[in-house]
Amino acid sequence: MLTETAYAKVNLALHVRRRREDGYHDLESLFAFVDRGDVLSVTPRADGGLSLTICGPFAHGLASGDGNLVLRAARSLQISVCPSNSLGNSGGLGILDSGHLGADLHLFKNLPVASGIGGGSADAAAALRLLNRLWGCNLSDRELCAIGETLGSDIPACVISQSLRVEGRGEALAPLDLPGLSGTPILLVNPGIPLGTAPVFRGWDQVDRGPLDTSSLEAVITNGRNDLEAPARALVPEIGDVLERMRAVPGATLSRMSGSGATCFALFDSPQACSTAEQALAAEQPTWWLMSGRVR
Ligand code: C5P
Repeated sequence: MLTETAYAKVNLALHVRRRREDGYHDLESLFAFVDRGDVLSVTPRADGGLSLTICGPFAHGLASGDGNLVLRAARSLQISVCPSNSLGNSGGLGILDSGHLGADLHLFKNLPVASGIGGGSADAAAALRLLNRLWGCNLSDRELCAIGETLGSDIPACVISQSLRVEGRGEALAPLDLPGLSGTPILLVNPGIPLGTAPVFRGWDQVDRGPLDTSSLEAVITNGRNDLEAPARALVPEIGDVLERMRAVPGATLSRMSGSGATCFALFDSPQACSTAEQALAAEQPTWWLMSGRVR
């Protein structure tokens, strides 16, 4: 059995610059990934079929049917590499001859659904990496990103799962290993309320507040913003409570909302400060979801 971690994604800053004709928004963002997340495992099957089972703390409320992004990613990869597949596609890359590539996938869902930390995108990206290995497709990251882009804006970044400056709708990626970032202790906190991405983007006030300076971690901390914080807080006011609490914990060097919310994160100057904050918040707010780790 092969496994891949679907690393949790955080937007250390997320500047929304423009609403586009196609309904998406042009962004400038610094994506970072936590060294923990969902876990996807797979066993091969030779009949070309695909299946998905889900367990874990956030398995409830997540459908494992054909609409699940993991299965959609698996099918897209199958079609790309295997034109003779029973699903039929003459425009694929035609790398593999066998029409019988299949997989039984199992997802252990540790991350809350609809929470601004990648979730389904990270799961889909993990499926692409995992099946690329299982089936011996040998597609490059660039090719996996191109498949992922057709399924969701954050999937290309999640394929890479290393710190990246991200632009466009999410497809323009530049690796960015900022000094002082990798290994930083990080705490994720979610108030336990799911929040869809589209309504938050719709609530953006269309004011361009300017570009994102990623010349240093200091610049991202000091001058970076999350332009989706205001529309997310309008929908889930509890985000304000989380941020207020996280900004008061000792040792936090940056506290901000991730993505379209409602998960917020804090970076810490020491692992001790991070675990002290985690224990204090867990005791105070038993309904909040917490996860600590390190930035990859
Ligand atoms: O691409 P994805 O399906 O993950 O996006 C979900 C929704 O988030 C889109 O339908 C769109 O409303 C919004 N979105 C956006 N601009 C982006 C990414 C997502 O408006 N760059």
